[in-house]
Formats: sequence, structure tokens, C-alpha cells
Amino acid sequence: MKKICFATNNAHKLAEVQSILGDRFEVQSLKDIGFEGELPETHETLEENSLEKAEFLFNQFKVPVFSDDSGLEVIALGGKPGVHTAHYAGDRNADKNMDKVLSELEGANDRSGQFRAVVTYIDASGVQQFEGIIKGQVALEKIGKDGFGYDPIFIPEGYNQTFAELSAEVKNTMSHRKRSVEKLAQFLNKLN
Ligand code: IMP
Repeated sequence: MKKICFATNNAHKLAEVQSILGDRFEVQSLKDIGFEGELPETHETLEENSLEKAEFLFNQFKVPVFSDDSGLEVIALGGKPGVHTAHYAGDRNADKNMDKVLSELEGANDRSGQFRAVVTYIDASGVQQFEGIIKGQVALEKIGKDGFGYDPIFIPEGYNQTFAELSAEVKNTMSHRKRSVEKLAQFLNKLN
């Protein structure tokens, strides 16, 4: 089985990605490869931050590695919170972040937006990036208990419920992460 490091220690993300890549790959966490500490994220785009994290790890460990960077992009807010999604209201507090988006959208006619993920894969032969998008609407208020982050205020296209009301199984069939990692899986399967 080919080992490949995913630049996260989030067990939920690791399990989701392992199931997408299948049993020909062993997905390793940051901990598994012996990395402790914070990955650098110093740029203003998802593409640059995703690349920065993967390059940082590849340069240090020289093993096949991929990172993801994702964010919520709301049209009426000019693409914000975007690269600042995780700490939009100042810290990593999902409730405060969602409140900020909801208050900025008060009275807005257009509540459309998208979650976008950018995956960067690096091995000795080079760098590849893959994008995954799920379009939808920002709800009028927080609804639902499941999921994480902005799930209670995001209603994916074709549904009437937020990500936090939908089951993880349903969400994972269409999420931005799923779509970006599926493209990575197609690329890796062609390599082998
Ligand atoms: P990261 O790229 O995984 O660090 O994601 C950045 C931020 O985007 C997270 O802290 C979440 O607030 C938000 N986010 C990313 N993916 C999702 C999702 O699937 N649902 C809800 N929020 C998400």
C-alpha cells in the first residue's frame, strides 16, 4: 500500500479522505510522519496557502504529501470570508464567525455562495492542485446540530436543509472536500 501524508491531524477529515482514496493508499496524519507544530499559512488565497503547507512538509520530509485549504465564499460579500473563513470574527469560534456572516448579510437579496477547497499534492515528480466547489445559499439563521464550522448556515444547491441538518453521509457525497479529493484520487490512480 502506498503511503501518502495528508497535512492534518483531524480524525474526521482523515477518515473521509481515506475512504475516498480507497485501500490502495494508506493516508497518514501529520502525527504519523512525526510533524508537530503549526503549518505556515501566510497568504491571501486558498491556492497559495494550500501550496505553502504542502511545500513546507515535502521539503522537510520528502514523502508524498497533500494539503487542503478551504473556505466559504459569499458573493454579496465579495468572496469573503474566503481565506479568512476559520477565524473570520477574530478567533476560531464557529458561532461568532457565523454570526458575523449573518449580520453582514442582513437585508441582502443575494445570499448565494460556495464552499471551495484547494488540494495540493506534491511528490518527487512535482506539484498538482485540484479544486472542489459546492454551491449553495447562506441560510437566514443557524439551523441544525451536526457537522462543524459554518454547516448550520449553509444550504447546498438542490436541498432545503443546511449541511448541519443533513447527515454526514449525504454531506460527504457532495462536499467541496470530497470533490477536490476525488480529483486527487483520479490523478493518483492514473499514476499507479
Ligand atoms: P480548513 O481549510 O479546513 O482549515 O477550513 C477553513 C474553515 O472553513 C474551517 O475552520 C471551517 O470554519 C470552514 N469550513 C471548511 N469546510 C467546511 C465544511 O465542510 N463545513 C463547514 N465549514 C467548513
